[in-house]
This record gives sequence, C-alpha cells and structure tokens, in this order.
Amino acid sequence: MKRLLIIYHSQSGNTERLAAAVYEGALREQEVETSLKRVQDAGLRDLLDADAILIGSPENFGYMAGAVKDFFDRTFYPALGHAINIPYALFISAGNDGSGAQRQIDRIVIAYPMKKVADAVLCVGPADDTVLEACRDLGQGMAAGLSLGIY
Ligand SMILES: Cc1cc2nc3c(=O)[nH]c(=O)nc-3n(C[C@H](O)[C@H](O)[C@H](O)COP(=O)(O)O)c2cc1C
Repeated sequence: MKRLLIIYHSQSGNTERLAAAVYEGALREQEVETSLKRVQDAGLRDLLDADAILIGSPENFGYMAGAVKDFFDRTFYPALGHAINIPYALFISAGNDGSGAQRQIDRIVIAYPMKKVADAVLCVGPADDTVLEACRDLGQGMAAGLSLGIY
C-alpha cells in the first residue's frame, strides 16, 4: 500500500484546520495509507516511509514557520543519499500574503529532491468553506494520484 504523509505546523489553529481538511480528503482514497503529523513529531523515518508528502505552514515574517524550517534542518543531511524523490504539494496559511513561505519551501524541497505535482492551496485570512474544499481536493488528488500510480 502506498503511503501519504501530511505534516504541518500551526500556532493559532488556521493551518491545523487546513491540515484536517487535507487529511479528510486523502482518507477518501482507501487504497492509500495516510498519516497526519505535526511537523515537530516528524523526522527522517517518516520521509523514508512516505511515497508522497503534503506540507502545511503558516507564513511568518515572509517565511515558513520556524518549526517547518527546523524539520528541513533536521532531515536534510540525513536524507542525502536516500534520494527522497517523492511528489509533494503545499498548503499555506497567511494573514495577507503567503508567497514567501511558499517560495522558500519550494526552494528547499527541490534539493531532497522532491517534485511538485500540484499548485499550493493558499489560505489568506481565516479558512472558509472554499479553501477547506480546496484542501480536501488537494488531499484526495494526491492520494488518488498515488493509488493510480500517476506519480
Ligand atoms: C509572528 C507572525 C508573523 C507573521 N508573518 C506573516 C507574514 O509575513 N505574512 C502573512 O501573510 N502573514 C503573517 N502572519 C499571519 C499568519 O501567517 C496567519 O495568521 C496564519 O493563518 C497563522 O496560521 P496558524 O493559525 O496555523 O498559526 C504572521 C503571524 C505571526 C504570528
């Protein structure tokens, strides 16, 4: 069975709501084993076990959350040599922008070397029904792609 890993950080709950919707969407595909983790609880083992990854972060000071950066700091060197060549996509929560977090995560993960397979879901302001549905679609789409062997 293919495995989908969803990791996220959230301080005040917005990204957590997105992550829950992404997870809900992924669970619609029963052929894929999906796990949802706070990024602080995830590490190299999770990356090695994953066939695809969805990463969620708020934008803080024009960048990804520190906890997400810490995940990359902790796993990048240990991951070298394992060729984490897995598909990824992002979901970003922001007060008024989100582009900085998105761009900086994209720059880092390409070196693992993950490959982007879907546009990021960007939530500006509190999550509404439209963005939550987009998150469900993102989760389901990634899981379906894995299940069908598209990636
Ligand atoms: C310290 C801090 C810095 C922030 N910097 C930005 C920023 O640079 N750009 C932006 O659009 N929003 C910024 N925000 C707003 C958050 O990205 C936004 O509230 C987000 O939804 C928070 O997600 P969370 O509830 O999952 O923690 C910042 C919030 C905090 C607490």
